Amino acid sequence: MANVVVVGSQWGDEGKGKIVDWLSERADVVVRYQGGHNAGHTLVIDGVSYKLSLLPSGLVRGKFSVIGNGVVVDPRHLVEEIDKLAGQGVTITPELLRIADNAPLILSVHQELDAIRENATSGLKIGTTKRGIGPAYEDKVGRRAIRVIDLAEPETLMAKIERLLTHHNALRRGMGIDEIPAQRIWDELMAVSDKVLPYVDRVWALLDERRRRGERILFEGAQGALLDNDHGTYPFVTSSNTVAGQAAPGSGLGPSAIDYVLGITKAYTTRVGEGPFPTEQDNEVGQFLGERGREFGVVTGRKRRCGWFDAVIVRQTVRTSGIHGIALTKLDVLDGLEEIRVCVGYELNGTRIDYLPASMGAQSGVKPIYESLEGWAETTAGARSWADLPAQAVKYVRRVEELIGAPVAMLSTSPEREDTILVQDPFQV
Ligand code: GDP
Ligand code: IMO
Ligand code: MG
Repeated sequence: MANVVVVGSQWGDEGKGKIVDWLSERADVVVRYQGGHNAGHTLVIDGVSYKLSLLPSGLVRGKFSVIGNGVVVDPRHLVEEIDKLAGQGVTITPELLRIADNAPLILSVHQELDAIRENATSGLKIGTTKRGIGPAYEDKVGRRAIRVIDLAEPETLMAKIERLLTHHNALRRGMGIDEIPAQRIWDELMAVSDKVLPYVDRVWALLDERRRRGERILFEGAQGALLDNDHGTYPFVTSSNTVAGQAAPGSGLGPSAIDYVLGITKAYTTRVGEGPFPTEQDNEVGQFLGERGREFGVVTGRKRRCGWFDAVIVRQTVRTSGIHGIALTKLDVLDGLEEIRVCVGYELNGTRIDYLPASMGAQSGVKPIYESLEGWAETTAGARSWADLPAQAVKYVRRVEELIGAPVAMLSTSPEREDTILVQDPFQV
């Protein structure tokens, strides 16, 4: 029996949604444990595309799903996303979805603050999704957040809102913008409260009970390990811990509940937003990858920055997330390239290093050291077995395994659910 954590091993958008959807057939419960609706997970089933941001990807298959306490929940977005999926024929009911009572809420004040900071001409631009993720996590850590369960206690809610606004209105006065009346937040919450409350549950207990019954839990990570607040390219990161270990505190289970960590890894590298990206190709190679890989953000529609595979960062993620095996995605995007480059180390001030340094200056100063591999002229798109892969593609995969220090457990060769090669079942390890 195994519980599996799916974690992004780069800067997000590695294809987690597709892999979670595929694996969810073998799981009993799918759990989101961090992030919020900054995520954009795409599933393609028989040509129909589903895009999920806050909801666990298992729902499309009708799997029992959970939004854990580590997630920041925008209640208005939640209602919208449930309605949007209903429009695509995916029915979501409280029998299928539970939301942790102790999850913090994203309010309009958070979204507004995120946008104000990002749009400011001075200060550090992170390139956030402007969905209020950062400010909501700040309030959680600052012990003034409104949480999901507070919706069930309207008699004390106003006092909580007022306490929260003491902080926000001081900030807003300093920025020279209008203060927010508590009534506005109250109205905003009361407008959706009845729609959210039926989903609320004691998630830590529910998951523990299911686990004891022998059910298989699939944890669905959002973002990627290089966007982790501690281990990522700080300050160009998101505001949660995105590494696999977060699956435990973000759902209320202990670390012993995690049996296998599957790192979702793109066969090249992309990044959305600002921040260091050593192997970025701001040239025809990047353009080729972007066009072939359809690299546009799900949430913001922004063009993703593209570059060669960086084995240094993935090797680091294998260690910081405790990755047992990877799902290598988008191999097909490399079809037709004569030469494929892989970054095997960095040079920093004339010295070779084999890790991404912690300092912001050093991260932007590292120069990639490349190894060149021969490409393949044949197509891998839609391949469903190893035997269908050209010899050079197999060589590429083997070299990636060697460089990152983890085996390929799964391989993805198109956006479609079934264009997936299973090498080693993560639930059976
Ligand atoms: P996530 O955030 O990690 O779930 O990834 P996104 O959904 O943001 O981005 C991945 C994109 O690549 C989506 O459009 C997927 O449909 C697509 N995709 C996933 N796997 C493959 C693959 O193996 N090949 C190709 N060509 N596209 C893929
Ligand atoms: P999925 O789950 C890629 C990036 C933003 C920005 C930084 C901080 O689809 O892989 P935030 O709004 O979180 O405060 O933004 O993190 N970012 C993502 N990049 N994929 C994601 O999610 C991301 N979620 C946030 O672009 O650089
Ligand atoms: Mg995405």
